[in-house]
Amino acid sequence: MFQGKALSVTRLPDGIAELTFDLQGESVNKFNLLAVSELEQALTALEQAKDIKGLLITSAKDVFIVGADIMEFGAVFAAGPDQIIGHLANNNRNFCRLEDLPFPTVVALNGFALGGGCEFALSCDYRIASTAVKIGLPETKLGIIPGWGGTVRLPRVAGLDTAVEWIAGGKENDAAAALTARVVDAVVEPQKLREAALHTLNQCIAGTFDYCARRIQKKGPLKLNFIESMMAFETSKAFVGAQAGRNYPSPVTAIKAMQKAADKSRDEALQIEAEAFAKMAQTPVAQSLVGIFINEQMLNKKAKGWEKKADKKIGRAAVLGAGIMGGGIAYQSALKGVPIKMKDIAQKGIDLGLSEANKLLSKRVDRKKMSASEMGDVLNRIEPALTYDGFDQVDIIVEAVVENPKVKRAVLAEAETKVGADTVIASNTSTISITYLAEALTRPENFCGMHFFNPVHMMPLVEVIRGAKTSDNAIARTVAYANAMGKKAIVVKDCPGFLVNRVLFPYLAGFAMLLRDGVEFQRIDKIMETWGWPMGPAYLLDVVGIDTAVHAEKVMADGFPDRMKRDFTSCTDALFAAGRLGQKNDKGFYNYELDKKGKPAKAAAPEVIDILKPTITAAVEVSDDDIIARMMIPMATELMRCLEEGIVDTAAEADMALVYGTGFPPFRGGVFRWVDSMGAQAFCDMAAKFSALGALYQAPESAKAKAANNQKFYG
Ligand SMILES: NC(=O)c1ccc[n+]([C@@H]2O[C@H](COP(=O)([O-])OP(=O)(O)OC[C@H]3O[C@@H](n4cnc5c(N)ncnc54)[C@H](O)[C@@H]3O)[C@@H](O)[C@H]2O)c1
Repeated sequence: MFQGKALSVTRLPDGIAELTFDLQGESVNKFNLLAVSELEQALTALEQAKDIKGLLITSAKDVFIVGADIMEFGAVFAAGPDQIIGHLANNNRNFCRLEDLPFPTVVALNGFALGGGCEFALSCDYRIASTAVKIGLPETKLGIIPGWGGTVRLPRVAGLDTAVEWIAGGKENDAAAALTARVVDAVVEPQKLREAALHTLNQCIAGTFDYCARRIQKKGPLKLNFIESMMAFETSKAFVGAQAGRNYPSPVTAIKAMQKAADKSRDEALQIEAEAFAKMAQTPVAQSLVGIFINEQMLNKKAKGWEKKADKKIGRAAVLGAGIMGGGIAYQSALKGVPIKMKDIAQKGIDLGLSEANKLLSKRVDRKKMSASEMGDVLNRIEPALTYDGFDQVDIIVEAVVENPKVKRAVLAEAETKVGADTVIASNTSTISITYLAEALTRPENFCGMHFFNPVHMMPLVEVIRGAKTSDNAIARTVAYANAMGKKAIVVKDCPGFLVNRVLFPYLAGFAMLLRDGVEFQRIDKIMETWGWPMGPAYLLDVVGIDTAVHAEKVMADGFPDRMKRDFTSCTDALFAAGRLGQKNDKGFYNYELDKKGKPAKAAAPEVIDILKPTITAAVEVSDDDIIARMMIPMATELMRCLEEGIVDTAAEADMALVYGTGFPPFRGGVFRWVDSMGAQAFCDMAAKFSALGALYQAPESAKAKAANNQKFYG
């Protein structure tokens, strides 16, 4: 009946038609402009055929429909509110026509049905899901709201509570959860899906199931009385607003759209949704979050590309050192199914590593994310070792012993003699040059950096560091291992601090200068947290460890003396001298005590005022905006230098490294996105205002060139 490049309609026996999504040349189905226009034509064919009694909708791929094509968002969003509303209306017309067909419609959901895919399903009369389904409305995670009827149909199909939870939370739901929430009508094994969907359709045709009643419910106002509605909406706005925070307006906007449309018919409600969508689509937050999504896709593709280049899959791994990091690496590897040997020189170390893994796994069991027997399987994949027995069988070793160049070089050289000729060895050092460590090895081509962040199970980033002699295969195997561990690998070149610490320490240098000039650290923490950082710089230093920071600051000063060498005693020097090491000994900028959940809770430490007093050499009045500028400029200038020097390949990877590695606020999209949003010229002007503070406040050549040519870092 219709044959397109994204979908087709064919006739089955007994007056049934089948609409099948199968986007040519792609591994997934999505609602791109092509699919929207083909759906329009397919609906015309269906409306014109007089002999159809029912419509079955299927996908020929492993997924159903993953959503709208996010790569098309940029052009649509930039075109202005009228165009955005027009764009939405095109597919909304389709979905309404589908909902108004003169015969029943049943969709067979076989895999991902997200965003527009879920909204499409909601406009069908019945939804039958396979157990493999993941369904949801993740739009608020992109800073927008559902725009193809999600806020209209979901509350009318599944009730307001589910709609608020699904839309404001943006989570993917499995088939069982979707059934409980009444978003789908039945769940069956994948091989029974088609049969079950056809059976439902036949029952609709026979009049056993009243599909028309469902349509009436979906097209009318929400069934809530005024008081119920007031209570439900006001409570959920307050709750969701507090959870999302003021930097993420879209979850509350979605609820407001549902509230405004609660007593309206379908078509009026869709208009309200479209207006709210257009408003959100034009916020910088949506631009940043969509940018992050696109960056993520690029990053995943690149990581997969490296994995394909690897000479073999990682079957077995090993970690040297069972401390904080080694224990975390062993846990993560075992959790994701890669068996790992965990070697230490001391039984004490091994006991600690194992007990950490045990603790993390027990939590998963308590939260019902894992069964006790699965926990046993994971623990069995960690093989504690005090010797190198069996190391000739491993494909990769991660070295995570103490941060001491001599010890590391000795350990690496020794390990190299115990492994196969092709085993890749990667160091988790945070400050020592990979090229320098490689000098201790006879096969430096098999060696690179693999820099995890603490805590390993929580932090998504792994920097894979290429030394002067590192081979492509060593990088490829290491990225493949990071992928297998569920981590986000970004390949960077060797330099002091690699990428993340190289730009984090200039930010912390900005902090030290502010303290030197008499600004209170609590005030800076508050301002930077309001700006979006998960923790202010003083709190961050306490978490990192003041001793670790002092050590890293020295490494950075030696590496980049022109920019990072200090001519004053800094706050970290003073705290270190006073024995205040941060959370690790319960006192740093703040004091720490374990709370009821066993987590360190921070409290003011009045004694720190006296410790820092001698380091304050001025009493400068600094505005809140200037504090932000003085903190962020050094990070941005250093990141620009990293891009200029090829330490990182692209602005997108640099931004993602900061989001994944430091918790840089996603709604700002990254440092380059932040600079782009103000414009390179405005950034250069801002830096010039503070140039007396030193070389970290000089705009690098790339910023000047972008300013001169009115260009952005994201082309
Ligand atoms: N802790 C962090 O936040 C963090 C973050 C990123 C990277 N790193 C890096 O990870 C590495 C380990 O740091 P950590 O914090 O886990 O240290 P840690 O002190 O907790 O653990 C080091 C472990 O190495 C063991 N060890 C020492 N010599 C050994 C040898 N010859 N063979 C095997 N084991 C040996 C020790 O017994 C100890 O268990 C360091 O290079 C550090 O810079 C640490």
